[in-house]
Amino acid sequence: MSLVSDLTDLVSSAFEAEGLDRSFGEVVVSQRPDLGQFQCNGAMAAARNAGIPPRQVAERIVERIRSDSRLSRVSVAGPGFINLTVTDDYLAGWVARIARGDDGLRVERPRRVLVDYGGPNVAKDLHVGHLRPAIIGESIKRIIRRLGHDVVGDVHLGDWGTPMGQLIAELEDRFGDLPYFDPDYTGPYPDEPPVTLADLQELYPIAAKKAQTDPEFAERARRATFELQAGRPGYRALWKHLREVSVRAFKEVYDLLGVEFELWLGESSVHDRIAPMVERLLASGVARHSQGAVVVDVADEDEDLPPLILVKSDGSYTYGTTDLATIEERVVDLGREDLIYVVDARQSLHFRQVFRAARRSGIAPTDVTLEHAVNGTVNGLDNKPLKTREGGLPLLRDLLAEVIERAARRLDENDLAVGYPEEERAEIARLVGVAAVKFGDLQNHRASNYVFDVERFTSFDGKTGPYLLYGAVRMRSILRNATERGFEPGPLLPPASDEERRLMLTCVLLPEVLVRSAELRAPNHLAEYTFGLVSDFSRFYEKCHILSEPDPDRRGAWLGLVEFTHRLLVECLDLLGIRVPDRM
Ligand code: ARG
Repeated sequence: MSLVSDLTDLVSSAFEAEGLDRSFGEVVVSQRPDLGQFQCNGAMAAARNAGIPPRQVAERIVERIRSDSRLSRVSVAGPGFINLTVTDDYLAGWVARIARGDDGLRVERPRRVLVDYGGPNVAKDLHVGHLRPAIIGESIKRIIRRLGHDVVGDVHLGDWGTPMGQLIAELEDRFGDLPYFDPDYTGPYPDEPPVTLADLQELYPIAAKKAQTDPEFAERARRATFELQAGRPGYRALWKHLREVSVRAFKEVYDLLGVEFELWLGESSVHDRIAPMVERLLASGVARHSQGAVVVDVADEDEDLPPLILVKSDGSYTYGTTDLATIEERVVDLGREDLIYVVDARQSLHFRQVFRAARRSGIAPTDVTLEHAVNGTVNGLDNKPLKTREGGLPLLRDLLAEVIERAARRLDENDLAVGYPEEERAEIARLVGVAAVKFGDLQNHRASNYVFDVERFTSFDGKTGPYLLYGAVRMRSILRNATERGFEPGPLLPPASDEERRLMLTCVLLPEVLVRSAELRAPNHLAEYTFGLVSDFSRFYEKCHILSEPDPDRRGAWLGLVEFTHRLLVECLDLLGIRVPDRM
């Protein structure tokens, strides 16, 4: 229950009393705040259904709700819009109710959800392509969890298959004397990896290229992949090291970004299920042999899709095979009911094929939902996908370092964190830089592309992460100053000004925003809301001079509102995955 749903109930009952469907009574925030705080647009559709003039329907509804104690003003506008304004008591009552934690947000029947939003590949450091899934996926996960669902995030490493064999073959060429390559060696293998991520980053492209141009190398790489998968101990030990080195590097960057995966599974985790799965699909007729390969037909009358290849003619499995087996793992072993993939829109064909195959085979039963929550690209100032000067994909650690450095200078330019210990300043710059990047991303709908504009993102003015952090820090310092003067937050009072009323109205809209963000897998709604909250707070704070207010009840009420807004803001930022410094 929320203020908006309470109003919806009221208006729906009025429609019902008029013999019309309750569903016409939906109340939303007004597009025309000059006419009312809320509106109901259902009279037009109801009138069409009932064959009555719409204004007449609207007037009858208004007649029924006019004297309700929750409303201070009700009117009909235009062809039949119903405008509603609530009383200040009712509004303040709802703010107090949410402040007590009674927001009615927790769902009755929680779902078991998994969000797949990592996808980095072993031996390659995180790059710009991993930025949006990480930021958006983390926020989607937190928002859905806030509604009471059981949600886990999985990094889903690309840690298996051809690239691993290519790397092993390349390492064998270079470090052939190491025990990993001696088939007669029985262990133990070294504790420490023989290479660093930097080595791997350099070697992997070389190996991949050789595999394309040198048939002898390609054959050795293929055999290495096969033997690795078959369990050759030296290769498994080496592979474990490669994975470890990479995971350690991924964690550094994900930690910096405030991105936390509950599960560090990967393509390798499902290796053992693949062969039996293919057998089963062949036996049940869902898969068929085709020109030496095994495929699943996924086209139907609605959509003409190419078949999903499960086994290639050379006997190897594909990206699609792995994702199909991973669905099985998630449903059967992990008991997940909703699978959400936050992955680049350019992989949409892949997911359409895999999801179809999962349905056709029953690997995803009908009560399991599969969803590709696509993300767009990060573009450079030229509005083309971001590249390094050399034309490669920028590494996330480099991108973040650049923004954090700019954030540190922004602190100077704005006289912030002056005289703080060096270490604290550096930490603040990190938080400001990460907030800049995350909010710069999250304010866009996940499916659209955006321009990565370091100057704009790091500014303390405008719709930016730093502006929001500053807002939160300022609220805290207001509360601290008040405490120093012996003023404490007290019970809320009905608003005394338009600015205060508006801030309260924004506060009570949080439940709707969270539900919308969760349902649409679209944290940009929450991002927009959070920005609105800080802007409304600024206007309130400018208008209401809290510390010089002589009436102690009013002053206490205002401080109570500051305290609650601060709490709400920190929570919104947390749901966006943004951390707030204590001071700045
Ligand atoms: N590793 C993949 C890539 O580099 C992304 C994985 C996305 N998640 C998935 N379940 N397919 O393209």
